[in-house]
Amino acid sequence: MKGIILAGGSGTRLQPLTQAVSKQLLPIFDKPLVYYPLSVLMLAGIREILIISTPTDLPAFRRLLGDGNKLGLQLHYATQPEPNGLAEAFVIGADFIGDDDVALVLGDNIFYGPGFSGTLRRHVTSLDGCVLFGYPVKDPQRYGVGEADADGRLISIEEKPAVPRSDRAITGLYFYDNGVVDVARSLRPSARGELEITDVNLRYLRQGRALLVDLGRGFAWLDTGTHDALLEAGQFVQVLEHRQGVRIACIEEIALRMGFIDTDACYELGAALAKSGYGEYVMDVARSAR
Ligand code: G1P
Repeated sequence: MKGIILAGGSGTRLQPLTQAVSKQLLPIFDKPLVYYPLSVLMLAGIREILIISTPTDLPAFRRLLGDGNKLGLQLHYATQPEPNGLAEAFVIGADFIGDDDVALVLGDNIFYGPGFSGTLRRHVTSLDGCVLFGYPVKDPQRYGVGEADADGRLISIEEKPAVPRSDRAITGLYFYDNGVVDVARSLRPSARGELEITDVNLRYLRQGRALLVDLGRGFAWLDTGTHDALLEAGQFVQVLEHRQGVRIACIEEIALRMGFIDTDACYELGAALAKSGYGEYVMDVARSAR
């Protein structure tokens, strides 16, 4: 399975923070926001990843992550010149996807919870059609909203409904079989002028091939769409990291634990950042794995 991180958009709700910096590069405590969705793909075992951003912001992502080789990844880059919708990622990424299955993660979504990597890997392996991840929220009308039957099959999905049929928000992580490229190519823009991911999911629903996995209330799916939400996400990460002495979404540690790189390579990555606590942590992780 290949992975796509969609990190476009103009971040208007976070202005002026996003005036000169891409939203997905803003800090969530000790690391840029994009590390969190990147670590989700890595935990799913995905090593070939396409990062899509605006023509203005893409060079900054390249500067941050390069070709991914040092993390044992193959990173590719592509631009989305206009905010034409999430589903456009599969049209832009068609050549990159080739004949593979693909996971899409939104560059501003943060996932954290027990057993998450196991859940991810199980659904990568058993994928048939598409897998969506649902999360109970108190304001579902802000999101795609889904309903599932007792077997977890998606039975309804609506984009930002005024009267939601459930409290289950569809999070910004999606697994699809290769058919998604043709589905995306056949879509027409919605009333807001976008190729909607919800329309992609509707196609799979109609084929009876859409699964809605419940992330449940013990899980954290964090929003970063407002100034408050951004700060709160950073504080959430800070609290857990201080309490446990571990770092969340530390891509160097994940690369090591997933077997993408060895301890020497991990140590080198930490040493390059040695003046920060983050760099020290990465070196410690490598030392204790030796
Ligand atoms: C998008 C999707 C929506 C999903 C949300 C998750 O909304 O259209 O279905 O629930 O991401 O972050 P947007 O952020 O474009 O409003």
